[in-house]
Amino acid sequence: MANISLITGITGQDGSYLAELLLEKGYQVHGCYRRTSTNSFQRIEHLLDQVEMHCTDLMDQASLERLIAKVKPTEVYNLAAQSFVGSSWDQPILTGEVTGLGVTRLLEAIRMVDTSIRFYQASSSEMYGKVHETPQRETTPFHPRSPYGVAKAYGHWMTVNYRESYDMFACGGILFNHESPRRGLEFVTRKISDAVARIKLGMANEVRLGNLEARRDWGFAGDYVEAMWLMLQQDAPVDYVIGTGETYRVGDFVQIAFERVGLNWEDHVVIDPKFYRPAEVDLLLADPAKAQAELNWTPKMPFRELVETMVDHDLARLSLVAKPDLKVVRKSA
Ligand code: NAP
Ligand code: GDD
Repeated sequence: MANISLITGITGQDGSYLAELLLEKGYQVHGCYRRTSTNSFQRIEHLLDQVEMHCTDLMDQASLERLIAKVKPTEVYNLAAQSFVGSSWDQPILTGEVTGLGVTRLLEAIRMVDTSIRFYQASSSEMYGKVHETPQRETTPFHPRSPYGVAKAYGHWMTVNYRESYDMFACGGILFNHESPRRGLEFVTRKISDAVARIKLGMANEVRLGNLEARRDWGFAGDYVEAMWLMLQQDAPVDYVIGTGETYRVGDFVQIAFERVGLNWEDHVVIDPKFYRPAEVDLLLADPAKAQAELNWTPKMPFRELVETMVDHDLARLSLVAKPDLKVVRKSA
């Protein structure tokens, strides 16, 4: 019998890569999307004939329960969230409802229908916040610095709690930042790659950014979804840190991105206090040793290649906008 997967947040960056991976592995893939006035299927358009889509929302307990009962998944990947840290100060309640309580709603739905379903929770390095040790590992205490980080810590502990209370196969992947050409435009890496391409093509002259000194452990999203899948294939449910073990400044990303198109970043970057956060996470650096040893997982794409891939993608995409008469058939990035 084919494995049946259900992915919440399938329209997002990770959801699209995970759907591709599970289809390659022969899974039946079901995805959840929420109703919006304009459709949000851009990242999965190329998969729509292979994936069954269901309209639901992490705010709606009854719809989740009905969905689990109908689809009868063997694995559930909870990737849905209000995932932008910056917005979580503007919408702390909504962030708590979706990113935090949404996890409990889904766990409850699974518990009501079938406790043998395997559950993956998209936990986050943002939970480490004001870090208590460097590098951060599975045992490092959490000290979240944003409403988003607090909501993720709650969701993570509920996942652990359902595992311990009901013997469910539920685990949290503590993923450090991962990026791709499919990253949302509000996140700093994609904001930069998009702006660099616009500047190169003469469509803009500057990009306004906040804190260039913040450091992140950045990897490629396509590599990270494999770790999610691996966690659900183990004999026992365990939480893992997933990251590269390297950290770079936002300023390093900026510099490499501008170098890629032969421009000087100092001529185009404007520091704007509007993009500083009320409380910053200054430094994230993963120790992924446990995942390497037990899951045999290692990240494949190095940092410079990630930056260059994102810039090249935005350059190609925006060149088509600048020259619409050029008819180029592109595979989805
Ligand atoms: P993303 O691109 O922002 O995708 C988030 C997904 O959640 C979208 O499909 C979105 O739907 C959906 N969603 C939002 N609110 C919802 C609601 N109320 N009900 C149902 N679905 C809802 O995020 P991502 O980068 O793929 O990240 C995937 C998950 O991993 C998130 O939980 C994120 O917090 C977590 N995470 C990400 C990273 C990272 O660096 N990317 C690191 C650690 C953890 P729409 O398309 O309709 O907006
Ligand atoms: N977004 C943004 N925009 N960030 C900026 C800017 C800007 O103009 N200028 C500087 N930054 C800095 C932020 O202050 C932060 O320190 C860093 O760039 C990264 O910001 P984001 O790309 O928005 O990501 P994040 O680290 O806050 O959160 C991402 O990673 C988490 C895992 O650690 C998201 O994907 C979360 O969903 C994820 O959990």
